[in-house]
Amino acid sequence: MNKPLLWRWLRLKISMFLSKVSEWKILSFLGVMRANVLHYFTTDIGGLGDIIEELKESVIYPLTVPHLFSDHSSLLSAPKGVLLYGPPGCGKTMLAKALAHESGACFINLHISTLTEKWYGDSNKLVAALFSLARKLEPSIIFIDEIDAVLRSRSSSDHEASTMVKAEFMTHWDGLLSTVDQRPPRIVVLGATNRIQDIDEAILRRLPKRFAVSLPNAEQRKRILKIILKDTKLDVPEGFSLDDLVKRTAGMSGSDMKEACRDAAMIPIREYIKEKKASGEENLLCVKPEEVRGVRNEDFFRRRQGSSYSSTQDRLIES
Ligand SMILES: Nc1ncnc2c1ncn2[C@@H]1O[C@H](COP(=O)(O)OP(=O)(O)OP(=O)(O)O)[C@@H](O)[C@H]1O
Ligand SMILES: [Mg+2]
Repeated sequence: MNKPLLWRWLRLKISMFLSKVSEWKILSFLGVMRANVLHYFTTDIGGLGDIIEELKESVIYPLTVPHLFSDHSSLLSAPKGVLLYGPPGCGKTMLAKALAHESGACFINLHISTLTEKWYGDSNKLVAALFSLARKLEPSIIFIDEIDAVLRSRSSSDHEASTMVKAEFMTHWDGLLSTVDQRPPRIVVLGATNRIQDIDEAILRRLPKRFAVSLPNAEQRKRILKIILKDTKLDVPEGFSLDDLVKRTAGMSGSDMKEACRDAAMIPIREYIKEKKASGEENLLCVKPEEVRGVRNEDFFRRRQGSSYSSTQDRLIES
């Protein structure tokens, strides 16, 4: 190969390499995940069956099997924005990830810090890249956790760049309503928040489908506890009653319940280790896990010295 030709070939290779690198940088930067790497399943979520069904019907199916809906009526395309709202720890994030996983849609997990703080200036380009990527990888779900922090009500004290990013985001979002090759893009923006009142009015308008993920009632707590305790050894029937636990967890979120179960599951192990040490058994590698007793109701909400409980648990212990 002569010199100029070799040089051109090298330059081509280098530019191909660089373009790949920047594409991957953008991909990882935007938190793009293939749905099959999200290890979340709707069967791991307790008590939200109705919301899951409605989300599948109105969002996921129109996104993944659009012809079924659009052939019937153009009104039935996937909504461009969906909002999950409710108190902390009730399963909004896990619900979003499980839906993306089961639908097989590309999941773009947009981190708040990506659009704010130090990236001011480049943020507009990033927003454009985000939507162009979502189009390339469709069907896609752009998930914005804690959406209130990114797209909260605009105020006069806002950084100018932040106002521009919001405007840019909304422009691209509106672009999702236009059709490409006579069909709307299969992209949905899915937001989650526990401060719905802080979200910009204009953003709320673009999130027409809203689902309240509230604190679980008794029936829902029962389902959640069954899931959380599914592989925990329980002292049934003498020491453990699920119905009693359901009553005692009133007012708790799924996340609070998980922590309470984790603490309770630790008690039999701690007791067993103590017994073994008292009998002179120092080598814990020789102990038999099957000798550890099952978890009992009395193991729940025991306050250990120096440990702290969440405020919900405090209220429950004191009442
Ligand atoms: N309905 C539920 N079923 C089973 N587990 C749950 C449920 N709700 C919450 N959990 C447990 O609590 C953890 C936290 O839930 P998640 O992060 O989805 O809550 P969130 O609503 O997004 O909270 P935040 O508003 O603080 O972001 C989950 O990883 C899960 O272990
Ligand atoms: Mg969350």
